[in-house]
Amino acid sequence: MKNTVHIRTYGCQMNERDSEAVGALLRDYGYEISPDESSANVVIVNTCSVRQKAEDKALGKLRLLTAGKRTRPGRVVGAMGCMVQRLGTRILELVPGLDFAVGPDRCAALPALVRDALAGSAAVVDTRRNGHSPAPPTGHTTRGPTAFVNVLFGCSRGCSYCIVPAVRGPEWSRPAPDIRREVAGLVAGGVREVCLLGQSVMSYGRRQDVWGQAPASPRGFAEPFPRLLEALSEIDGLARIRFTSGHPAGCTAELARAIRDLPPVCEHLHLPLQSGSDRMLGLMRRGYNRAAYREAVDRLRAGSPAIALTTDIIVGFPTETDEEFECTRAFMEEIAFDNAFVFKYSPRPGTPAAEMPDDVSAEEKMRRNKVLLADQERRATRILAALVGATLDVLVEGESKRNRSRWTGRTRTNKIVVFEPAPGMRIGDMARVRVERATGLSLIGAVVS
Ligand code: 5AD
Ligand code: SF4
Repeated sequence: MKNTVHIRTYGCQMNERDSEAVGALLRDYGYEISPDESSANVVIVNTCSVRQKAEDKALGKLRLLTAGKRTRPGRVVGAMGCMVQRLGTRILELVPGLDFAVGPDRCAALPALVRDALAGSAAVVDTRRNGHSPAPPTGHTTRGPTAFVNVLFGCSRGCSYCIVPAVRGPEWSRPAPDIRREVAGLVAGGVREVCLLGQSVMSYGRRQDVWGQAPASPRGFAEPFPRLLEALSEIDGLARIRFTSGHPAGCTAELARAIRDLPPVCEHLHLPLQSGSDRMLGLMRRGYNRAAYREAVDRLRAGSPAIALTTDIIVGFPTETDEEFECTRAFMEEIAFDNAFVFKYSPRPGTPAAEMPDDVSAEEKMRRNKVLLADQERRATRILAALVGATLDVLVEGESKRNRSRWTGRTRTNKIVVFEPAPGMRIGDMARVRVERATGLSLIGAVVS
């Protein structure tokens, strides 16, 4: 019988992508990859370290799985990802019975580790850095019309609260021809939309030569990231390109021009703000202030007035006053974000911010969190309602999970649209949909062609 592997993923899109690549790699080694945990005899948990709550969840899950080995002899339980990198061998004390644990740089070691664990070998923890070579696995398993593609690994920005540079290492960019090849391969297999991934994705190619022999840029782009967007735009059959996450420093005139002029590049950007107070932004070491963030947004909107902006906010950063919190609130309304993820500050051991007192109480963090989410809900409802009557391009993604007779897709601005499928419609089609109603978080529409 084939060995069946289930991968459970916590955390960001980088982790989702790593899980997929590991799945593809294990499949090449003869394992079956299953979305069902109970039937799998190998379970791998891909962990996140960004906040303590994320670690607690992954630890709880891992302990449940290892405890369950008593009634399932022979089952293998492993961990991968950022929390493994942060904890190192300590993870074996926190999760007794764990078979293996690998850091984000060691995905390629998994086939050998799974094989050895199935054969009953002792627990292994591998958090070595691979020094950027060999590159991580690049396989894909999902067959939908959209795919994630890594372009930049690690992060060298050094925001004071963030564990990512410590667990994912310094920033480095994949060679552009490799990315092009991977995207072209995905498109040949039916993918219509790619989302390029990096912690600070517009820094792509700023620290390394990513081109080798640089091809001419037909539209005169000189900066590496806009140039990458241009190169990918030339791939026949690729309908859409997204990228995440952004940083205001990357919102240059060339990037604004790329979003405006390259047809596949979508009018949506996730641009984490974190705070609307200049004092907080300084303590967070974000490398911009309110005015610079505003200018970045203005540059993008000057080229693409309909661009959707989404963001991340941290509430209750050390010493944040109520007044400073209100600055964030007002600035979020000023920018009019389409969506926002709000996080309660969580000190991460070893980061500069962890040296400061975590002096905003849990109740106050909760209150600020709720206030921002309520504001955002009202704002999102208003923004969606303004789209009623518009006819939009929608990439058809398949049946709606809530109602199987309806289908869903996304607009170029990343809004979810629910509609009755037209006769003969297929997943991956591009449809024109007229918006009839807006509900809380999505749009209801009718296909017009
Ligand atoms: N505490 C709370 N939120 C954090 N984030 C990153 N580090 C922390 C932390 N220590 C948030 C930021 C980032 C998102 C992915 O997670 O908002 O953009
Ligand atoms: Fe963390 Fe800043 Fe890097 Fe984002 S850009 S991952 S917040 S250090």
